[in-house]
Amino acid sequence: MPSALDGIEKSATEVEELTRQLNHHAHCYYVLDAPELPDAEYDRLFQRLQALEAAHPELIRPDSPTRRVGAPALEAFEAVRHAVPMLSIRTETDTEASGAAAFDARIRRELGLSELDPPVPYVAEPKFDGLAMSLRYEHGVLVQAATRGDGEVGEDVTHNIRTIGQIPLRLRTPEGASAAQSVPPVLEVRGEVYMRRDDFEALNDRQRARMAAGTKGEKTFVNPRNAAAGAVRQLDPAIAAERPLSFYAYGVGEVSGPQAGGPVWATQWELLQALRDWGFPVSDLACVAMGAPELVAFHQRLAAARDTLPFDIDGAVYKVNRLDQQRSLGFVTREPRWAVAHKYPAQEQLTTVLAIEVQVGRTGKLTPVAKLAPVFVGGVTVTNATLHNEDEARRKDVRVGDTVVVRRAGDVIPEVVGVVPRVGDTAPDGTPWPPRGEPYTAPSHCPVCGSVALREEGEVDTRCTGGLFCGAQRKQAILHFAQRRAVEIDGLGDKLVEQLVDAHTVRTLPDLYRLGLVALAGLDRMADKSARNLLAAIEQSKHTTLARFLFGLGIRHVGEATAKDLAKHFGRLDAIMGATPEEAASVEQLLAVRDVGPVVAQSIHTFFQQPHNREVVEQLRACGITWPEGEGTADQSTPQLLAGMTVVLTGTLPTLSRDAAKDLLEAAGAKVSGSVSKKTSFVVAGSEAGSKLDKARELGIEVLDEAQLLARLAQP
Ligand code: IVH
Repeated sequence: MPSALDGIEKSATEVEELTRQLNHHAHCYYVLDAPELPDAEYDRLFQRLQALEAAHPELIRPDSPTRRVGAPALEAFEAVRHAVPMLSIRTETDTEASGAAAFDARIRRELGLSELDPPVPYVAEPKFDGLAMSLRYEHGVLVQAATRGDGEVGEDVTHNIRTIGQIPLRLRTPEGASAAQSVPPVLEVRGEVYMRRDDFEALNDRQRARMAAGTKGEKTFVNPRNAAAGAVRQLDPAIAAERPLSFYAYGVGEVSGPQAGGPVWATQWELLQALRDWGFPVSDLACVAMGAPELVAFHQRLAAARDTLPFDIDGAVYKVNRLDQQRSLGFVTREPRWAVAHKYPAQEQLTTVLAIEVQVGRTGKLTPVAKLAPVFVGGVTVTNATLHNEDEARRKDVRVGDTVVVRRAGDVIPEVVGVVPRVGDTAPDGTPWPPRGEPYTAPSHCPVCGSVALREEGEVDTRCTGGLFCGAQRKQAILHFAQRRAVEIDGLGDKLVEQLVDAHTVRTLPDLYRLGLVALAGLDRMADKSARNLLAAIEQSKHTTLARFLFGLGIRHVGEATAKDLAKHFGRLDAIMGATPEEAASVEQLLAVRDVGPVVAQSIHTFFQQPHNREVVEQLRACGITWPEGEGTADQSTPQLLAGMTVVLTGTLPTLSRDAAKDLLEAAGAKVSGSVSKKTSFVVAGSEAGSKLDKARELGIEVLDEAQLLARLAQP
């Protein structure tokens, strides 16, 4: 007869086995991103464990995955004294790549190395923008998680940290583990708790939905770091569990064990591998870097990758790899000498909103823009930041007088991320809070031309209905047409266009080609020489390509790539616009162009139906704008006369711009190269050609002028 004790023993074995399995699958799912079980099967095992634990609470193990959820809310956090203080690291103030070289130079000096000694090995890691955390494992089981606090004393946040699936509840001991991988009786793992950007966006979306549903107390977070900090310091673990956090391990605190001489790893790199083997996420970006040049290369690589990473970083961290060297370097006050944080320019800063203005875009879109007290962010001084549209401005509730977080990441236009809540009597800069302005509403009329502004059903944007009657739209249409990637009128910048439009000298694009010296010389800051240069640039822009011309017209939804596709597909402008509106390419015909969908096709069709647009195009052609017809139609008519050839352009050509010449050569199948070699097929030289021309002569390579090039391209 089986006794009750047998039953308990069986259950105990099953609880142990389920705990082990579930922890293994959590590691596969959260850390390795490679689940071995369908979710439903995981859930089934989990529920089985929950049921067993409910029946036999005495069997609940300290590393049970059921303990990740359901802990009761706390009154307050307990203080935790760190066995080994949590240090901070020195920040290199030079945010340029040279900062890495300065660190290496200091380390070499302090290690007493001469120029003849080999490079110092370092580990280079990302500097994760989250919160430092110390995770204490006793006999392999997570017993406590503590924040950094002041470095000596932090807060016990174990209940929240347990909810992070990436953090092992029990250290893994791989089969055949070596001594380095076996588990010390006490191990404190140090690392960063952070929130991924996608998790952050999803969290804010949920918070907004709740606000809309009228649930009290739901606010959005300004950035992933704040959201992570809020989640970690939540007294209610149920709320923390809803705010998905992630973790990267990068170091250790207290380590005790039979290895009396301390841990058996000899380098930071080996330590990272041991942490990975124990089941922690360790960044794949971390690497060994030999000496200053490799640190500099890491810094640059990481900076280039920064905006594409799924999480925020604020710099790189360099650590001397060898622990014996770390020990001999030691500490200065509270910072290790062997590590440095090499920051990137901050992408977010606080500033105040001085005004909210409305800008009119090229297509009439009205964009609310916050005018800001100047602030240095993302490497530049920012005074304007977009609020995108009316809904966004209201959602963020940005008003004059507010302190806001501005963000400038990469080359993206600066934006207002959110408003800093008014807590206490003074703003973060110490001054009393200024009065708040009114909530933003889109204007009913265009602030530039006074035309009615409309927001159509289902659209987020309010638009000026003035079209090219609107000075703002006209100015931008001209700048768009004149830009380098369109017909390229070198020297026609916004200040000039501003004056030309305001003085009514230029109303439409063709007016540009009717400008004379007299009109130009009368303008502000326009010397005779610049006027002549501008006229020459205007003249030069007459020789262009169909793709550039189409792009320059500023047809809605027609960017550079679409313009190229159109030119290639149709070959001739007449095939697109027809002799009359009725003969213009139909939506169906336009849909046959690669990558052109219904919205784009409709927009192009509508554009060429408008008599005033057709008039502009006709006049431009009458002013002498030309391009080689049939250009770019590789699949139709451009003969690949230069297929397989490598051509070098040098000097200034009399009519073609550098880009236009390049386009022509490429359309004919040539590769355009920047330097002359034996492989160069021929060189096209204009005035003031320098060393490339000499080199071509030296190598006996054929040299053509523009006319000869055009003649060669025109061959049947
Ligand atoms: S090592 C003794 N490595 O930066 C060295 N820190 O001021 C201890 N951090 O509080 C830190 N990424 O929160 C280290 N890969 C990394 C890091 C990192 C982010 C944070 C950490 C620490 C602060 C250093």
